[in-house]
Amino acid sequence: MGHISVKNLHKQFVNRRRNKREDDAAPYGQPVEVLEDVNIEIEEGEMVCLLGPSGCGKSTLLRIIAGFERQSSGSVTIDGKEVTGPSSKNIFVFQQSGLLPWMTVWQNVELGLRRMENKNEQCERIQEYIDMVELDGFEDHYPHQLSGGMQRRAELARALAVNPEILIMDEPFNGLDFLTHMKMREEVVNMHLLLGKTIFIVTHDIDDALIMGDRIIVFSRRPSQIKMNRKLDFPHPRNLFKKGAELCELRDELFFMLGVNYAV
Ligand SMILES: Nc1ncnc2c1ncn2[C@@H]1O[C@H](COP(=O)(O)OP(=O)(O)O)[C@@H](O)[C@H]1O
Ligand SMILES: [Mg+2]
Repeated sequence: MGHISVKNLHKQFVNRRRNKREDDAAPYGQPVEVLEDVNIEIEEGEMVCLLGPSGCGKSTLLRIIAGFERQSSGSVTIDGKEVTGPSSKNIFVFQQSGLLPWMTVWQNVELGLRRMENKNEQCERIQEYIDMVELDGFEDHYPHQLSGGMQRRAELARALAVNPEILIMDEPFNGLDFLTHMKMREEVVNMHLLLGKTIFIVTHDIDDALIMGDRIIVFSRRPSQIKMNRKLDFPHPRNLFKKGAELCELRDELFFMLGVNYAV
């Protein structure tokens, strides 16, 4: 379960901005082609990282897969079923501030498990997910009592408790300090190794994609087409600096592809 198939996907928006901005491709009232004939197959249990320049349509694709937005043409199917609207059954969209502020960490995680009838088992599961993201001891804290990174981890525990087939994340590490970013990234990789969910992550961070991805997809500028779709067979945990000339070469290639000639 968790197979995503995107076929001949096109998306146009009508430009509704009256004050023309630099990145507006079309005058007011005119259509803007954002996605142009995008074809992607994501296998069950695969972690796919999508890279691309800002404004190229990454979030748009993610929103179409999640059923929040309709495509202009083409199709998206999940396990063979056409996506026609949002579904809470098999997809969880990880949001940066998705926690309910009036509920504690425990209660937020419990939300995903409220249908469980056996209360003992339910408690065990809630604790298991809270432990997994290292928030034990903070069960009774409210979101505002947690740091940004802890909030993000609590949101991750909530996502896991829902036990979705597919986890979708749009730039999930934005705004985190460097170490929290590294730790959170490690947690997502560990969680992926442990649970084998299909994960689709949009990121602008090349190193995130290299460290996490089973596959990396790179979009061109708008209208977006796929410039690279490559499977990464490097074992985890990955370290860009200690081993792997191959990973470093790919890193240079990705930087170049995204318009930076000298990778830093
Ligand atoms: N609802 C909308 N109406 C009109 N244009 C939109 C809408 N949503 C996104 N766009 C345009 O589509 C393009 C892609 O947006 P987005 O998918 O958010 O890019 P990314 O996530 O890659 O930065 C942008 O040029 C944006 O202005
Ligand atoms: Mg975006």
